[in-house]
Amino acid sequence: MTHALIAAADRGHADVAATVEKAGLRGVAAVPINEMLFRAHLDELAALDDAGEGSLVITLTHGGEETSVLVSVGPGGVEIGKAARPAEIPPTVIVQGVCEAALALYGPPERVSSAGPEIRWPSPHTMVPRLVRGPAVPRLFHAVVQRVVHVLERSRPAHLTELAVRHGTDKWGFLHQYTQHYERHFGHLRDRPVRICEIGVGGYGDPRAGGGSLSMWKEFFPRGLVYGVDIADKRALDRPRITTVRADQSDPEALRSMAEEFGPFDIIIDDGSHMSPHVITSFRTLFPYLVEDGVYAVEDLHGSYWPQLFEGSEDDLNDPAYTVGFLKQMVDGLNHEEFLKKETRVARPTDRTIKGMHFYHNLAFIEKGRNEEGGPIASVLREAPEILGVEGLQ
Ligand SMILES: C[S@@+](CC[C@H](N)C(=O)[O-])C[C@H]1O[C@@H](n2cnc3c(N)ncnc32)[C@H](O)[C@@H]1O
Repeated sequence: MTHALIAAADRGHADVAATVEKAGLRGVAAVPINEMLFRAHLDELAALDDAGEGSLVITLTHGGEETSVLVSVGPGGVEIGKAARPAEIPPTVIVQGVCEAALALYGPPERVSSAGPEIRWPSPHTMVPRLVRGPAVPRLFHAVVQRVVHVLERSRPAHLTELAVRHGTDKWGFLHQYTQHYERHFGHLRDRPVRICEIGVGGYGDPRAGGGSLSMWKEFFPRGLVYGVDIADKRALDRPRITTVRADQSDPEALRSMAEEFGPFDIIIDDGSHMSPHVITSFRTLFPYLVEDGVYAVEDLHGSYWPQLFEGSEDDLNDPAYTVGFLKQMVDGLNHEEFLKKETRVARPTDRTIKGMHFYHNLAFIEKGRNEEGGPIASVLREAPEILGVEGLQ
C-alpha cells in the first residue's frame, strides 16, 4: 500500500483519492500514520527530562468517514492506541484529509497543502485556568503537536549529518565524515521518489542489529524506497519503505536477482565487505541497474590498501584488481575519446556510460550518463594532423 500511495501521490489528488476509495479509509490510514510517527521522532521527546506528558489524536478523514489513533508520549515512551492511564490534559486532535496527508508525505513539494491540518486544542475551560493559575502546561503538550504538524507541512528538512547521528549510522562521526559529500551529490534528488540500494545493512551477524543508514535514507528521501543488501538475514529490520535482501555481494547471480526484482535504482551505495574483488564484482553487476543520471557510491576505499583487514595492497596503486586502481582506470575512461594511440589502453564497457567521477577521503561517486562528446581535436590529430601543421604519431 505504501508503494501504491507514493505512486498515486506523484500523479496527484485524483489518483490518491482513487487509491483510498479502492482500499477504504481504514485500509489505507495506517500507512500515513506510520510515516508521520516515523518522521516526528516522538521518542526523542519522551526521553527529555521533566518535559511531562503530551498526547494527541491523529484523525484522518475521507468522504464523510474518519478514523483516529491516540498517541501518548511521556517518561515511559511513546504509546500508540489506548493510553495506560487517562492523560492529565485531554489530547489535542489533529485533523487532516487522508488524501492531503498522503500528498504532504509522499507527493512532490508543490502538492503540500498550504492550509496545513486543522488543530483542535482541548477546551478553553480546561486550558485557560491552568494557563492563568497553573499548574504549568507540560512542555510535551505543545511539542508533540508541533512535531506532527511540521511533518504534515513538510517543513524543516533535517541536514543529513543530523539524520546520521539520529539514526545511528557511522556515515558521520569519529570514523567518517561522509554526509557532507552525500548531501552535495544527493541533495537534488531529495524530493524525488527515488529507489536507493545500499550494500551493507550493518550489525553483521546479529539479525536485529544495524539498519541505521537505511532509516537515515528513508528520512532523507521522504518519497524514497530503500533497499538494503546484506550477507546476513536482516528481515527483522524491514519497515514501510525499507526492504532488506539477503545476498552475498561477491555473488553476481544473487545481486542480479535482487536488482531484477527491485531495480532499477537511482542510487547504489557499496558499504559492504570493502574487499576489492567484492566491490568490483558488485560494481560490474549492479552498474547496469543504475538509471541514466544515477549515482553509484563506494565507501571505505581504505579497504583497497590494507592487507591486514581487507586483503588490500599498496604495492601498485594502479593495479585494477584493487578498488582504487579499478576506479582510476575509469578516470581515464572519461577521456576515452582523447587517446591518440589504440594501444594506450583497452576500451572498457563503461567508457561511454560514466559521465563523472568524484573522489573524497575514502569515498568515490560515479555518475552514470552519456560520455560521447566526439573529441574533435584528438580525431584531427589521429586522422589528419597536417591540418594543424603537426606531425602524426608513429
Ligand atoms: C559497515 S557495515 C554497514 C553499515 C551501514 N551501511 C551503515 O552505514 O549504517 C557492513 C555490513 O556489510 C555486511 N557484509 C559483509 N560482507 C558482505 C558481503 N560479502 N555481501 C553483503 N554484505 C556483506 C556485513 O554483514 C555488515 O552488516
